[in-house]
Amino acid sequence: MRMVDLIAKKRNGEALSRDEIRFFIEGYTNGTIPDYQASAFTMAVCFRGMTPDETAALTMAMADSGDRLEFPDLIGARADKHSTGGVGDKTTLVVAPIVAACGVKVAKMSGRGLGHTGGTTDKLSAIPGFRTDLSTDEIVSVVRGCGLCVAGSTAELAPADKKLYALRDVTATVDSIPLIAASIMSKKIAAGAQNLVLDVKTGSGAFMKRSSDARALAKTMVEIGKRQGLRVTALITNMDAPLGYAVGNTLEVIEAVQTLQGIGPEDLTELCIELAAQMLLLCEQGTLEECRSKAKHALYSGLALERLIWMVSAQGGDSSVITDTSLFRKSRCFRSIKARSDGYIRRIDAEKCGTAAMLLGAGRRTKDDVIHLAAGLVLDVKPGSAIRSGDRIATLFSENEDAFADAVNVLGDAFEVSDVAPKPIPMVIDSISNV
Ligand code: URA
Repeated sequence: MRMVDLIAKKRNGEALSRDEIRFFIEGYTNGTIPDYQASAFTMAVCFRGMTPDETAALTMAMADSGDRLEFPDLIGARADKHSTGGVGDKTTLVVAPIVAACGVKVAKMSGRGLGHTGGTTDKLSAIPGFRTDLSTDEIVSVVRGCGLCVAGSTAELAPADKKLYALRDVTATVDSIPLIAASIMSKKIAAGAQNLVLDVKTGSGAFMKRSSDARALAKTMVEIGKRQGLRVTALITNMDAPLGYAVGNTLEVIEAVQTLQGIGPEDLTELCIELAAQMLLLCEQGTLEECRSKAKHALYSGLALERLIWMVSAQGGDSSVITDTSLFRKSRCFRSIKARSDGYIRRIDAEKCGTAAMLLGAGRRTKDDVIHLAAGLVLDVKPGSAIRSGDRIATLFSENEDAFADAVNVLGDAFEVSDVAPKPIPMVIDSISNV
């Protein structure tokens, strides 16, 4: 087999066989197929797409490119979640403790942020001492102890995806439904997921700007799950505005803790309850209504917050910052943005908020950038908020005074004001399941 022939075949819109796809993934992972051929191939996929059989074959070849995590049976029912990436998305920090408090185990592999989107392992690294670089044995032992564990993905898990994702990021080939679906599902399959809830974001801050694309991505991933015997539910959720008010690692951990104290933002609380309920439903913990009640009880009773504190200690973190969030290190400098007119907030562009947070030091422009954990921004408003000229609408935090000029410009452009209140967009737009 020659890679050049496979590229030509895909360029001409033909479907590749399972063996041809395995040849590409194995060759690219072991270095015999170079980056330039892999980029030509992924670009051809962006233009020509893949059939469901090809997408499933790509997923499995990537899942098989490294180790598979295996959990002993005695760990019990396990649920997992994955978000396609957004701005202010701290749901894992709230949902995983809720589900664990309801008696279902959560062993979640999370990633770092890149570009305007945040990553859960970066958020967790804001907790002094917290370790995400755990071995499989450590993950199992943490899950056994406190019912949940959030760890970073290891180099051995789906290495083909790591290599391919880094390449796609710099060759404008991220935006492809089969490539995104295979990337996400290969990692979940390699990590041993059984009951998986996918949070497929749509809107300005998401990879899928249009809800029709988000639906197509969700359907593709649910179908891949079905073929592999995974129970999968995908929720299509609104990522047009940031989730909650806080964007930036420490700021988001604080907002997640407030949510677990029952005093979090409405949109974040609603989404977390729904994601947790869907995870419980997949694990047969009752009807959807019963699962929602269980999730709410875990949150408002404080039991979920106890789980988070337990997990933080079990993963080496200093849990005193969770019990008293005023102990978190703060940024040295801050600035606020004021409204320039009266009216209603019509839109808050999530991508611009994410970019502003990145410019403040909360995210990475390139994968080697060092992030400032306390940097980011906190909004004072949501779409629909009534404002008067001069009202504070956001506060920006940074270690570096020089970062403010660009960040204030970008964030200032994120707000659209109108004379009438906009129609609210529901948080959960649709759901697709294979169960
Ligand atoms: N998240 C992933 O893990 N992979 C993609 O390709 C896009 C988003």
